[in-house]
Formats: sequence, structure tokens, C-alpha cells
Amino acid sequence: MTKNRRGFFCQQCGYETAKWAGRCPSCQEWNTLVEELVVPASRTNRREKGASRPVALDDIDGSVLSRYLTGSSEMDRVLGGGLVPGSLVLLGGDPGIGKSTMMLQVAHHLSRTYGTVLYVSGEESIFQIKMRSERLGLSSEKLLILGESNLEAVEAQIKMLKPLLVVIDSIQTSYRPEIPMSPGSLGQVRESTAFLAQAARDHHTAIWLVGHVTKEGSLAGPRMLEHMVDVVLYFEGDKQYSFRLLRGSKNRFGSTNETGMFDMTEQGMIDIANPSEWLLLERPNSAVGSVVIPVMEGSRPVLIEVQALVASAGFGQPRRSVTGADYNRVSLILAVLEKKVGLMIGSHDVFVNIVGGVRTSEPAADLGIAAALVSSFRNVAVADKLVMLGEIGLTGEVRSVNQIGPRLREASRLGYTNSVIPRGNLKNLESSHQDKTTGVVRLEEALEAVLGGCF
Ligand SMILES: Nc1ncnc2c1ncn2[C@@H]1O[C@H](COP(=O)(O)OP(=O)(O)OP(=O)(O)O)[C@@H](O)[C@H]1O
Ligand SMILES: [Mg+2]
Repeated sequence: MTKNRRGFFCQQCGYETAKWAGRCPSCQEWNTLVEELVVPASRTNRREKGASRPVALDDIDGSVLSRYLTGSSEMDRVLGGGLVPGSLVLLGGDPGIGKSTMMLQVAHHLSRTYGTVLYVSGEESIFQIKMRSERLGLSSEKLLILGESNLEAVEAQIKMLKPLLVVIDSIQTSYRPEIPMSPGSLGQVRESTAFLAQAARDHHTAIWLVGHVTKEGSLAGPRMLEHMVDVVLYFEGDKQYSFRLLRGSKNRFGSTNETGMFDMTEQGMIDIANPSEWLLLERPNSAVGSVVIPVMEGSRPVLIEVQALVASAGFGQPRRSVTGADYNRVSLILAVLEKKVGLMIGSHDVFVNIVGGVRTSEPAADLGIAAALVSSFRNVAVADKLVMLGEIGLTGEVRSVNQIGPRLREASRLGYTNSVIPRGNLKNLESSHQDKTTGVVRLEEALEAVLGGCF
């Protein structure tokens, strides 16, 4: 019998080594190696593959891969047009962000539209799931709930029920009994995922894993799992807000550029079909320190509102608080405003917030952020139906941005018919939907255009 030996595994990339090191030799991350049991290959390769034989490409039946629509067009968009049968999907996100809610809604829709769905919960009792389904108003005879963590037992049910989708909530609570490691450990998560990947192929069932994993990889290395699954989705959002963003970081069946937007309500996740309208719903008119910016979320333009507040600092260091925007870019904008425009904002308390819990790190938002800061500093509002776009360079120049056409079209659609954009972008404008577009080369010019002589 093979004696279990211990080895070191990287939590980020899954690299295995016999010796501990401070830095992973493979992915170069620091402090990611943890000691665990090494599972002998005979235990992991559970199937003899003698029977497989090559098939002519033309003889493979492609129709079995027609996608299932999930009932949420935002989810379908991120998946690349729906769920592919037999695929393995990982849905990660912070605790409490709404993963189980989303999965229950998708499982419910698929069971009502296409057939049997098995929802395996190792985390919550079946009664807790019932409570959630009642709150969300979901009921379906073909949605079967199984309170189980042992994957051998889950596979037996898959064999018997032949569901089109199995939800595993969560991968961290699942285990294979023959692997001598605790659930949630790196080795157990890896082996469980490999087991489920094989089960998805063998039974041609889609399997959706829920994982308590954030992009930073707080638990059981998501990057390691990313190699093993077909699609990796992350739920993002600020728990203080109801806005949730679903982002794909890997997709074998579609683009990872697309994002899905949801409003998390008591009735569950609701698609935000019209994000710009949703985000600008409560925008006050003629508010000082508020500017609207058309940013790109994947291939979709979205109008966001940036708010800035500049107040004289009390004693000590001036405070800077940035929510939703990139802290370093805001610092850069403040430095340029001070050195190139001559506005001494840096010694004041500065607060910048993107309304609604949205995040953007697009340099194209620079000009809007700068204008919001100066608007608050000078206590003068910018015009109501105006959008601003442009990346600010270190010398105070305003640089062109991409996708100017779709951004301005979205602005016009919502009645924002005035715009201040980089002059370099004027030539790319086909037929402008805007009443008035001002092209600017320098930051001072842009501020002059929106705040007049006051700045
Ligand atoms: N009665 C309720 N009304 C509105 N929202 C609720 C209600 N009950 C729970 N929620 C929301 O649902 C969230 C939990 O959602 P869910 O269980 O789907 O998240 P999760 O990502 O699966 O969490 P976990 O990581 O703990 O499994 C809570 O943070 C809360 O905001
Ligand atoms: Mg959950």
C-alpha cells in the first residue's frame, strides 16, 4: 500500500514541490505554499480509459450542445449566450454576496423549462433552502434538493436522476471520502473539482460549482481551479449597496468581456436591463461636484455619476477617500490639478465616490473626476445634461479614449446631449447625436468649457 507523504502546494496555481519556499517557483507569488498530503495518482485516476476511441469530426453530433437559457438575460450574456450542456462552471464571490440566491433562481428556471435539476447543498440545510425559495417565490417539481457533501453519493444520484444541471453549493464543503484531507483544504478542493469535471463529461450534465473565492484568492486558489473548469464567473459588489456585477474571468464558450448587472432585492437577483437609467435614477439636478461619465462595461456603455467633495482640512493630514474609482488615478488627477492648473486642492480633504456601488478604473473617467473635484472646490455646478470623457496625462493634456461612438450614443439616448471629449476623438465621430460636442486638448480648456471663468 502506498504510504501518504506530505508536500507543499501553491494556493494560487497549484504547483507542487517537496521543499518549502517563501515564493512559488511557478507563479512567483509570495507566501502561497502550504503543506498538505500528496494524493497518490492511483486514487485520483479513478477511471480506466481503455474504451475511448477517435471519432470523425463530422460524425460528432453538435446539436447536443444547444445552450440552455437561464431565465436571466444578464447571466446568459456573461455565459456567452446561455449555459452549455455538460460544462463545468465556477461561480466565485465574497460570502453573502448572493451566490446561492442566483443559483437557486437559475436552477429553478432550468427545471421549469428543460427538465430535472439537482441542487446539492453541503452548506445549508434543505429547510434553509426551502425558506429562501419561499422568499423568492420559486416552486418546481423538477428541482430536487439534496443535502449532501460526499461526492460519491452525489454521483450516484446523478447516475440515477440524469439531471441536466447539478449545482454544488459549495465546492469548499464537498469531499471525496477516499481523499484523506478535510473539506475545504487545497488538495480536497482540487480532487473534488477533478472528480466533478469527470462526472460532467461522463453523464453529460452541466455542473455549476459555487466557491467562496475572491479574485485575490482568499481560499483554495481560484487560479488553480480556473484551469480545471470551462467557465469562471465572479460576483462583485459592495454589500452596502444592492448593485451586483457578474464578471467572467474565463469562458471556453464566449467572451470574457461581457458583464452582467443585477439588483439584489428581497425577491432575489433582478436583471438591470438598463444600467445607465438605474444608476442615474436619483441624480440631483444642478448638484455641485457631480459629473456624468459614459464608461464601458465590457462591450456595453454605461453612464455613471461621479461625486466629489472638497472641504477644508482640519488639523493634521488632509484626508482622501475614494470609493469606486482608482485611488492612484485620483491622486494623479489631484497632482496635475495642483501643478499644471494651479489649484491647491491637495491640502484639502477630498472625497470621491462613484454612485451606486459601481467601480471603474478606466482612465477615460479622469476628466469627469477632475471636473467633479473642481466643481466642488469652486462650488459651481456643471451643466445638467453634460457628459465628460478623457484620459489626463501627466502634463495636463487630455488624451483620446476608445469606443467614443457607443459612449456618446448611450449618453444621447438618456438625454445627455452635451459632451466634452478629447479633441483627438472628434475625427472618429460619425454622425454626432449630440447637440454640442466640445473637443479639448488640455485640462484647463475642459474646465473652462464646463465651469466657465469660475475655475
Ligand atoms: N429576507 C431577506 N430580504 C432581503 N435580502 C435578504 C434576505 N435574507 C437574506 N438576504 C440577502 O441575501 C444575502 C445572502 O445571499 P446568499 O445566501 O445567496 O449569498 P451567498 O453568496 O450564497 O452567501 P454564502 O457565501 O454565505 O453562501 C444576504 O447578504 C442578504 O443581503
Ligand atoms: Mg451560499
